[in-house]
Amino acid sequence: MMADTPQTTVLIGSDVFDLDPADEAAIVDEMAHYEHPRAACIEALKIVQRRYGWVPDGAIAAVARVLGIGPGEVEGVATFYSLIFRQPVGRHVVLVCDSSACFLTGFQELRQALVAQLGIDYGQTTADGRFTLLPVCCLGACDGAPALMIDGDTYGPVSPGDLPGLLEDYR
Ligand code: FES
Repeated sequence: MMADTPQTTVLIGSDVFDLDPADEAAIVDEMAHYEHPRAACIEALKIVQRRYGWVPDGAIAAVARVLGIGPGEVEGVATFYSLIFRQPVGRHVVLVCDSSACFLTGFQELRQALVAQLGIDYGQTTADGRFTLLPVCCLGACDGAPALMIDGDTYGPVSPGDLPGLLEDYR
């Protein structure tokens, strides 16, 4: 289903953001799977993120235009969903679960070891652009707590001693 307004060039201040035509087509295709285009919002944001590694400001309004919903609604989804990044990130994103099962089974030691090994804290990216470190709510891997996710890969239970070998796989 096409939105009423097919134009997706969006002015944000002086910035112009054009969705890649392939991305726009993929979003329109995704919309066809749902009764309301709003339901395709997360997938649309993932499509943009796959291309840029994050979701730039201008993309929010461009996605909203394609979906036919308000940019505030898209921004709300992007902000709520922790796997959508609204700031530039490194080549690999390390998400550390801090929910209850992980908190009780060694999250703090794991976090401290990551901070020490990477030399960055939450929300920061290593100087070489290799890793960004972020907290995340339950990854759904509680039986393997403490757990973390690197890019789309979930690991657990992870001990501080496992980190060097684990991170080595992500150049
Ligand atoms: S609480 Fe950490 S994966 Fe569920």
